[in-house]
Amino acid sequence: MSREALLDLLRERIGLDPATLGERVIDDACAEARRRLGVADDLALHARVVGDGQAWTACVEAFTVPESWFFRAGEQFADLARHARALPARPYRVLCLPSAAGEEAWSAAISLLDAGLAPGEFEVLGIDVSPAAIAKAGAGLYRRSVFRGQTPPATWLHPAGEGGYRVDPLLRRCVRFRTGNALDPRLLADEAPFAAVFCRNLLIYLHADARRRVLLALLSRLRPDGLLFAGQAEVLSSFDQRLQPWPGGSPLTFVTATGSRAAGETPASRRESPAAPAPMPRPATAAAAAPPASRPPPPRPAPPPAAAVPDDADTAVAADPIAEAHRLADAGRVGEARAACLAQLSRRPDDVAALFLLGLLESAAGDIDAADRAFGQVLYLDRGHLDALEQRIALAERRGERGRAADLRARAGRLRNRATPGGAA
Ligand SMILES: C[S@@+](CC[C@H](N)C(=O)[O-])C[C@H]1O[C@@H](n2cnc3c(N)ncnc32)[C@H](O)[C@@H]1O
Repeated sequence: MSREALLDLLRERIGLDPATLGERVIDDACAEARRRLGVADDLALHARVVGDGQAWTACVEAFTVPESWFFRAGEQFADLARHARALPARPYRVLCLPSAAGEEAWSAAISLLDAGLAPGEFEVLGIDVSPAAIAKAGAGLYRRSVFRGQTPPATWLHPAGEGGYRVDPLLRRCVRFRTGNALDPRLLADEAPFAAVFCRNLLIYLHADARRRVLLALLSRLRPDGLLFAGQAEVLSSFDQRLQPWPGGSPLTFVTATGSRAAGETPASRRESPAAPAPMPRPATAAAAAPPASRPPPPRPAPPPAAAVPDDADTAVAADPIAEAHRLADAGRVGEARAACLAQLSRRPDDVAALFLLGLLESAAGDIDAADRAFGQVLYLDRGHLDALEQRIALAERRGERGRAADLRARAGRLRNRATPGGAA
């Protein structure tokens, strides 16, 4: 009962849907909150946090997942750079909500500087509910592991001893951070409109009403021609019909229907605009072009109508059936993309690209078992497939299997070290 009361507070105040965490994670989080606050049981925990702001914050931090890394989903930062170059409005304003410990906000600023914007021409604001995460963001000091095996860009991140890195002072001028709750209706009240909003890997933890409120608040502060970046498995077009994938961009980069027109852009005009180079090298797999996956479930796409399954004639015409499946996924035709993968696998069961894309689609649809099976098959065929391993880690976390996630992470670390001698710290 007392635990239920605590979960109700989390639902009401930060929008958390406890069902997205699973029982084991909730057990661990309650234990961590009790430990932090020195209370014996959930009854005492609830009594302690209900009227005490500091205790509440400590409790929230036990329940939230501040995990982030630099250039997470790198293709979205390439979208950001391209958009900023094409949009004349200055300052080009970027919001990262939630920012966790700042990795995303710094990555955005680096991408804009590398795209040729001067420091005064843009500003990045990072907001997170966790004061500990915001303090870390402000310190701008990171361990090597937050680069996930990528090489930190030497211009903007400087070695700071013990394998750490510190952000460059020029970068600091472009980014600010503050604490805030995405559900607070006054959170963005004084903010001028943003040209780009990153809201990645938060909505998946929220209940439907909280998700709706956060999206409404963000859309009210997004320029009509602005971009909204979603996280893994956050197919925003299924949350809000006004949103659609930005044609030519990552499948998780969204624009409003009016925005698409306001920007006067078409896929063709976008292809003509100078493409920004991806800020850092990424593993060369299908991940960059497909709707990635991580935590819980957007609504499962309706099964594809039989006619949507490409028949032999269709696939004989398609020079590259997996490129076609990616195209379908990018266009939001998830059921058809899945069917195209299955058709390809019935012809070539060892097609790693088809299996990987299928895993991403299953994961985005919330079928964790099917996704894990697909990524498992990828790894059976290609033991060095780091992206499939990353996906399995995310799936294990989603199930609350922390031990398994740690084992997989250790395996990923070994793989990265093999790929980059002297690699991750
Ligand atoms: C998984 S991190 C995502 C960070 C980053 N956007 C990314 O995708 O890498 C989730 C963050 O959401 C924050 N968070 C959770 N509920 C929040 C809320 N109601 N308002 C603001 N931040 C919240 C947590 O503190 C945590 O840092």
